[in-house]
Amino acid sequence: MSVRRDDFPSSFTWGTATAAYQIEGAVAEGGRGPSIWDAFVRRPGAITDGTTGDVADDHVHRVGEDVALMAGLGVDAYRFSISWPRIQPEGTGPALRDGIGFYRALAERLLAVGVTPWATLYHWDLPQALEERGGWLERDTAHRFAEYAGLVVEELADVVPNWITLNEPWCSAFLGYASGVHAPGRREGSRAARAAHHLLLGHGLAVPVVREAAPEAVVGITLNLYSVRPASDAAADVDAARRIDGLGNRLFLDPVLTGSYPEDVLDDLGEAPWFAENALADLPTIAAPIDFLGVNYYSRHTTRAGEPDGRPSANPGSESVEFVETGAPVTQMGWEIHPDGLLDVLEQAAAAAPGLPLVVTENGSAYEDHVGDDGSVDDPERLAYLRQHVEACAEAVRRGLPLTGYFAWTLMDNFEWAWGHSRRFGLVHVDYETQARTPKSSGLWFRRFLRSELD
Ligand code: FCB
Repeated sequence: MSVRRDDFPSSFTWGTATAAYQIEGAVAEGGRGPSIWDAFVRRPGAITDGTTGDVADDHVHRVGEDVALMAGLGVDAYRFSISWPRIQPEGTGPALRDGIGFYRALAERLLAVGVTPWATLYHWDLPQALEERGGWLERDTAHRFAEYAGLVVEELADVVPNWITLNEPWCSAFLGYASGVHAPGRREGSRAARAAHHLLLGHGLAVPVVREAAPEAVVGITLNLYSVRPASDAAADVDAARRIDGLGNRLFLDPVLTGSYPEDVLDDLGEAPWFAENALADLPTIAAPIDFLGVNYYSRHTTRAGEPDGRPSANPGSESVEFVETGAPVTQMGWEIHPDGLLDVLEQAAAAAPGLPLVVTENGSAYEDHVGDDGSVDDPERLAYLRQHVEACAEAVRRGLPLTGYFAWTLMDNFEWAWGHSRRFGLVHVDYETQARTPKSSGLWFRRFLRSELD
């Protein structure tokens, strides 16, 4: 018998997630300024298929239709992100009325159809003006972020009850400032750890600001966690797994949840220049109490000791670690499908902060989709991925892990960062020529699951 909604407590939150730059379009409307992604997508070769988020899903102009889609799916909640440069075009100064008005109208529409808003304050779209002042390598950016958070939450506290400070600071720091495959596309080696620290500091500074502006609000952060295991028992392979778990998981979990940096990871990073500014003194700020931890889970890593391949690495200090293809099935991204890994990362988070509510804020898969002659989109692989991970959530609840919600990535196909429009993760298909939205069979499965209509 397949998993059912009533395997979960009735208070469990079911939702879908998106991010501003991936869906909104309207990049030059309402006074919005450019973000680092607007600049990055214009670099030749940065985006696999040469597309941009200029139009994306044209969500700004189709918000009514998109809220109706969610109501149709029957979700309880919607996680979206707020575009910082739509609020502060240059990352400083007063909030733009058009920007605030857009998100207020979105939240009000959601509430009107019984969908609870969950807003992420930063899903990777730093105002370009701040990048030109050094971006996340500069401490001041953390203070600018906290100021922006205050402006937004003061305006929207009455319509948005749930706030997420940052989405996946590992990606912002190490894909943005080490491997350079994401905006702002810099290759700074272990200096990228400075960006990680300033992102975490921004989070820690923002939490009390959010609480002051919205005393009733629920506040958390979203980390991307991987299940990591060594390819063999050989000491070097075990060490490779320790390094990747360290840089990817513990470098973020430990400061946020326990107010410490993992010593072994600091050693791996070597003479990390971020220490010069006495990063350790910021740890109590970074460890500001939160109400939940958001976990984004997609895949498992199997690692072994190898040789650096000479390309700028997203794992500075651990360039020699190799990621092994195990032969297990993968999605179109090449990411191994391993639902049990979700349990591994939830166990790891729960061990670091016993009792803290955990929410899966993203989980999903990319596959090539085809619209059938009858207009339907049949995506059995995505449906299976979704079902298997919902089953893993049911197992987490059975084990007594404090898991309180699940958000599928993503509501609808959208601009998949460096992959542009060449990767589709949506439960709803988007035709980029016509902007027509068509629920895929995975979306229809989710709807039946949510309505308790599965056999
Ligand atoms: C996550 C991002 C999200 C989306 C998925 C596939 O890392 O947070 O925006 O791109 O991956």
